[in-house]
Amino acid sequence: MSRSGFRIAPSILSADFARLGEEVRDVIAAGADLVHFDVMDNHYVPNLTVGPLVCEAIRPHCSVPIDVHLMVKPVDRIIPDFARAGASIISFHPEASEHVDRTLGLIHEVGCKAGLVFNPATPLAYLEHVIDKVDLVLLMSVNPGFGGQSFIPSALEKLAAARRRIDESGRDIWLEVDGGVKADNIEAIARAGADTFVAGSAIFGAKDRPGAIRAMRESLKRATMTA
Ligand code: DX5
Ligand code: ZN
Repeated sequence: MSRSGFRIAPSILSADFARLGEEVRDVIAAGADLVHFDVMDNHYVPNLTVGPLVCEAIRPHCSVPIDVHLMVKPVDRIIPDFARAGASIISFHPEASEHVDRTLGLIHEVGCKAGLVFNPATPLAYLEHVIDKVDLVLLMSVNPGFGGQSFIPSALEKLAAARRRIDESGRDIWLEVDGGVKADNIEAIARAGADTFVAGSAIFGAKDRPGAIRAMRESLKRATMTA
């Protein structure tokens, strides 16, 4: 974790896929705390990206944990492959799993941290009964499938509700936000309760990547000051 308690996770979706190893090293040198690895299957979401082979290929270039975001259906059969490929965290959408409790157990069995992902319209009620098995809550602030979309403002209220539910559980659950995160909205997002921030286009798309991450950390510092 970064010294501030906040984590910044560049999403490879906006990287140059022809030079992925180099791209991953570059954002880590620029200050990334995690690498967010978006897996899309052209079935659960209308786009197709990369799988365990590519995760394994970038692992030697990755000195930080790999945060795998599965946008695939079915989910279970691909989980052991990602664990073998070097994933540290594996998150999935409850709508894509037939048995959410079983999938969470499977992720732990293969030695990874387990995350549950909430689309903008997915109620937080999916957390009930399984919150004791969840290590990370990932709230989507765009509909999944593409990088470069705008942050959906209602995600702020949902983040605050998720933060309350997590605090109430007394467990050390990370609260991650994904979609449209930029230096100019990250302070409000942190104030709403997020501690882990996925950013694709705002980091990979920046000419000065260390500068982009620095600007986010500056805004995050303001979030820790009282309003
Ligand atoms: C969207 C992906 C995101 C996406 C974020 O389905 O899960 O991780 O890459 O990209 P930006 O930061 O550009 O919205
Ligand atoms: Zn993602």
